[in-house]
Amino acid sequence: MIFETHAHYDDEKYDGDRFELLNEIHENGVDTIIDVGASVASSYDAYDIANKVDYVYAAVGVHPSELNDLNNEVLEGLKKLTENEKVVAIGEIGLDYYWEKDEDARDNQKYWFKRQLDLARELSLPVIIHSRDAAEDTMKLMKENKAEEIPGVIHCYSYSPEMAKEFVKMGYYIGVGGVVTFKNSKKLKDTVKEIPLESILLETDAPYLSPEPHRGERNRSDYIKFVAETIAEIKEVDVQKVYDVTTENAKKLFGI
Ligand code: NI
Repeated sequence: MIFETHAHYDDEKYDGDRFELLNEIHENGVDTIIDVGASVASSYDAYDIANKVDYVYAAVGVHPSELNDLNNEVLEGLKKLTENEKVVAIGEIGLDYYWEKDEDARDNQKYWFKRQLDLARELSLPVIIHSRDAAEDTMKLMKENKAEEIPGVIHCYSYSPEMAKEFVKMGYYIGVGGVVTFKNSKKLKDTVKEIPLESILLETDAPYLSPEPHRGERNRSDYIKFVAETIAEIKEVDVQKVYDVTTENAKKLFGI
């Protein structure tokens, strides 16, 4: 069993071959895929794809760099989508200071991160968290809002092994994708070494972040095998064990 916990098949890069490709990926052994919304529009698109394809589930939520379309009414609309059983999480939500240097805009990111955490708590759904160049504020906001009461994953994890352990202590999973296969990814490799396999989820973030040997190409969920193989090497276990444990982790988190 292979469980892909983070991809964006709503992306326009798949407009030409979306459903054929999903079918091919499934035939190549990827059993379950979560299509993660990032903007308001992509949340609705993820919802549609999940309702067309058996093995695809959706997360709905608004990424910190896509907040322009978000307001109370829109959030109510996203909440309504979660009544559908194919919607299994709120995400991706969080903080991204890489692109945002303005303090007021960063405050706005915090505001909507908190609102969407509250929504997940209210709905008893897990969260998929995006955090880039904002380690301290992410941890602080999560602690202030008792995020340890909400199950979730730190997707595309990019911080230190020490910080990962702190997230794991709060009950969070660490999402590991193609970056772990890059030569210069020592920090992420160290993180994988230092946290238990029981806290790792496999992801691709397709169409982005293709693993070696496909770096720079359009990503796809069956490339997850390169991620799993690298994790198996680091942990010195059989790749099948990586699939088994991470699938169990994902099933538990998303209730599938
Ligand atoms: Ni993503």
